[in-house]
Amino acid sequence: MPVNLRGRHLLTLKDLSTEEIQYLLDLSLDLKQKKRAGIRTKLLDGKNVVLIFDKASTRTRCAFEVAVYDEGGHVTFLSNSQMGKKESLEDTARVLGRYYDGIEYRGFSQDTAELLARHAGVPVWNGLTDTDHPTQILADFMTVREHIRKPLEQVKLVFMGDTRNNMANAMMIGAAKTGMHYLGVGPKELHPADGIMREMRAIAEETGAVIECTEKIEPAIADADVVYTDVWVSMGEESQFEKRIKLLSPYQVTMDLIKRTGNSEVIFMHCLPAFHDTETEIGAEIAAKFGITEMEVTDEVFRSKYSKVFDEAENRMHTIKAVMVATIGS
Ligand code: CP
Ligand code: NVA
Repeated sequence: MPVNLRGRHLLTLKDLSTEEIQYLLDLSLDLKQKKRAGIRTKLLDGKNVVLIFDKASTRTRCAFEVAVYDEGGHVTFLSNSQMGKKESLEDTARVLGRYYDGIEYRGFSQDTAELLARHAGVPVWNGLTDTDHPTQILADFMTVREHIRKPLEQVKLVFMGDTRNNMANAMMIGAAKTGMHYLGVGPKELHPADGIMREMRAIAEETGAVIECTEKIEPAIADADVVYTDVWVSMGEESQFEKRIKLLSPYQVTMDLIKRTGNSEVIFMHCLPAFHDTETEIGAEIAAKFGITEMEVTDEVFRSKYSKVFDEAENRMHTIKAVMVATIGS
């Protein structure tokens, strides 16, 4: 049966089948090629989209905006609304659903995204919550497809560091759904909860994926096709720096670690933003307080030939465009 995502939400990749994920990746590549060739498709002509951000963003916000404009639609950025303060989530969703064809939500709780979806009457897309980041994973898989000459189900991805954060969680879900070999490598204290691991393994049984978590870098790192990491302290956890630096320093992505994969074609990925130098306010504060100039990845790896982070960032736009075109496009 042909894939049809019209009217569907994107709250987590758990809700999509393997075929639907592959379809979105194919559509993303098609839209990327069309944009490169200067072909204007106008697939969101006359559509109105609202972007709700309760947390900071560069890529996700700009990717949504450019994607909508490219396809002839209109965007409202909403950051200081009545939502949740003077007006319930349900009422807000019902109002926004009367104006807009689709709603993007970035915030803290996954429940908020789900509640909006329940009441909006139009597709809701998750732009990041404390537990998930599905549009990021689509961009990551598109990037893997472009740089690794193997189908996703033959790819081994090692996620280093905070293996229970939103990115790691979203990556495990994506890997389980597409049949990949996912290995989370980090301290036990930051491993995902047993329930999530059980859920992932149940999905993996159907797709042939392998989903594992370990404290030990060796032998996990051997033969990795992708070494992935994310910040040690996610948005909303800013009080945790000291503790996380202690726990996660052994899991920093260094050039030595990249070499220990034994794979000369390994790629390094990161959703960004990344702390790879002191050129940020927080990076400079951390350097002054703890005497370190890099956190989850060294500047050397970040700027190396292995690093595909800017391709990944570009692909946010093409994949987000595909999600909107597939769910509300004409
Ligand atoms: N990767 C990502 O979601 O980036 P932003 O926080 O800049 O949107
Ligand atoms: N784990 C990070 C991801 C940012 C895109 C955070 O939530 O801050």
